[in-house]
This record gives sequence, structure tokens and C-alpha cells, in this order.
Amino acid sequence: MFNKKICILTSGGDCSGLNAVIRAAFIKATSLGYEVLGSKRGVQGLGEESGEIVVLDDSVCDESMLTRSGSVLLGNTRRIKNREGELCSKEEEADLFAKAYKKFGLSGVVFIGGDGSIEAIGNIMKFHKDACLNIAIVPKTIDNDVSFTDIAIGFSTVIEVVSESIENIRTTAMSHERVMVVEVMGRDAGFIALHSGIASGADVIIIPEFKCDDEKLLAKIKASYKRKGYCIVVVAEAAEIGDFKHGEVEIDKVTRIKYLGIGDHVVSFIQNGGFDSRLVRLGHIQRGGKTSVADRIIGSGFGIEAVSAIHKNSGVVMMAYSGGKIVSIPAEKIIGSITRNIGKDDIHLKIATELGIYVGET
Ligand code: F6P
Repeated sequence: MFNKKICILTSGGDCSGLNAVIRAAFIKATSLGYEVLGSKRGVQGLGEESGEIVVLDDSVCDESMLTRSGSVLLGNTRRIKNREGELCSKEEEADLFAKAYKKFGLSGVVFIGGDGSIEAIGNIMKFHKDACLNIAIVPKTIDNDVSFTDIAIGFSTVIEVVSESIENIRTTAMSHERVMVVEVMGRDAGFIALHSGIASGADVIIIPEFKCDDEKLLAKIKASYKRKGYCIVVVAEAAEIGDFKHGEVEIDKVTRIKYLGIGDHVVSFIQNGGFDSRLVRLGHIQRGGKTSVADRIIGSGFGIEAVSAIHKNSGVVMMAYSGGKIVSIPAEKIIGSITRNIGKDDIHLKIATELGIYVGET
């Protein structure tokens, strides 16, 4: 019989490596004598009516989890709905979280989430300052836009998946002497485009951080085309070129706004410039694939250290991978400044530029 419990949840969009974190947290927590609960469907699992809390055991947390993308704790909403199915206010959400924490007698929560989810923890702290909660945040997102950590879980796999896709696109680009435009995810940050563009030998990488000049884009395409007879352009979903601004679509109040249109615009622009061009919008294929070794190893490390932080009664902290080490950062430092972008001094930007890739007006 256990007298202490922890709960694990995954919040926000899925990615690779989540299951590696869950498995490692399970192994560490059971070795310290905790019963391990899982909240299904993210924080929604802690909600009163729709909530679903499961007990995790060896049959769920086995080795096959290491390579499997997605989350065994299922589709991950950042928000809690009330009994009537309406979205709770931020304050109600914080109350439900604190109430569930108490009701299940938790010693802590391993909260695996991205920037949006981490901001939600800021609300819990705001409304329940004196609640003495232990929440160990594990940063995850294919977008890699979480501050204070060199890498978020999911990023290493996504750039493998995208780079491999671009390699497949290269042969058709060569055969048909075309300019292939590959639109990738990343929200407001260009990490996926920049890293996978370098890794797959792109000629142009268009990212939200740096304005892309129409004329320089065409000049670069012309030069690459002349040299080898085809061209690869990687464009991030929230990038903008010339006067074109991507469209934004709101699906519902829970889902974040979608960015649309940049890939099509870039293709028309290139076609008007006299080149045969096609768009490949990689979409959600980017969130699957076999989990990379780095996501498995760092994910396992994050899971272990998150449970250790809870065991030490550390309060609300975020795990970070920094300078080759896993460190724990107090929430006060991260809340409110959790999102990051590619800066002018980013080493990968320098690598791309030195390779002759056009990355916009840096
Ligand atoms: O934040 C991760 C991410 O995959 C973004 O790169 C992308 O814009 C968004 O989520 C897609 O969200 P959804 O799965 O709701 O379409």
C-alpha cells in the first residue's frame, strides 16, 4: 500500500518523447515508493466531471514507450471545461487544479507542457500562492520556443522527420527541375525551419524572426537554380515575405490560432518569377515518427529529475537542459518570459549564413 502519490500529465500539442518522460518518471517515482497516477487528456483529467485519473503500472510504462510518439495519457488540452462543457475561467481552472491536488492526496505533479501550458501554471500560482504545491514542469514542444532550456522534448525528433522529408522531396525537385517549397510548423518561431533546412541542404530558409526580401529571395533562387537546376525553399508557417502577411484562423476558444497561406504565397511568387514551383505542406506528419535517441535520453533525464524535484519538495520548478546538464529553474524566473525566438547571435543562424543559405535580413 502506498502512502504517497504523484500524478503525471501531458498538456498542449503532442510530440515525440512524451512517453519517454512518463516512463522515466514512473520508474523513478515507484523506486521512491510513490503510487503513480496519470491524468488523461491533460489538465482536463483533473476536472470534476470529465476528469479521468488512471493508475500507471508496468503494463503501461514498458520499454516500447521509448520510441512511440504521442502520449499514452492522450490528447492534451491546456484548458479545463466545467460540468456544462463550458471553458472555465482562469481562476476556476486554478481552483480545480488545487482541489484535485488535495483530493487525490498528491505529493506533486509532473507537468509536461509547452509555453502555453507553462503560462497556465502561472495562473495556478497566482490564485493559490499559499497552497504549497509541488509542480515539476518538463518543457516539451516541437517548436522549441521555450526559454531557459537549450532543447525542449520533441524538437530533436521533429527535425529528423522534417529533414528526412526534405531529402525525399529533393529527388523530385531534381528530376523535374523545380523549386520545391516546404512549409513547416513552429508557430512564431523558426527553429524547425532553420535546423532542418541546414540539415537537409536547403537553399533558402524563411523564418518569422527575419524579414525576407522579395528581390534577394528571387536572386538566390536564380543563382541556386543556375548552379544545380533545382532549388529547395523551407518556410516556417508564421513567416512573412515582402508585403504578404500570413492569414490567421481561430478554430475554437481552446485551440490556438492557426497560421495559413505563406506556403501558397511563396509558390505563386516564385512562379511569377519564372520558375516551376510546388508546395509541400508537411502538417501533422511532423508530430509523429520514431522518437529520436536524443528525445529518449533527455526525456528520460527530465522525467527522473522532475520526480527528484517533487521528492525534495521543491515547489514549482521547470526542468531545463543547459550546457549539457539537467537543471531545475524556479517558476518565479520563468513565468511571464517563457517564450523565445531565434536571436541574431544564434549559432545556427551563423552556420546557415556561412553555408550560403539565404535566411532573410538578419
Ligand atoms: O505548437 C505545436 C504545433 O505543432 C505548432 O507548430 C502548430 O502551429 C500547432 O501546434 C498545430 O496545432 P494543432 O494540432 O492544434 O493544429
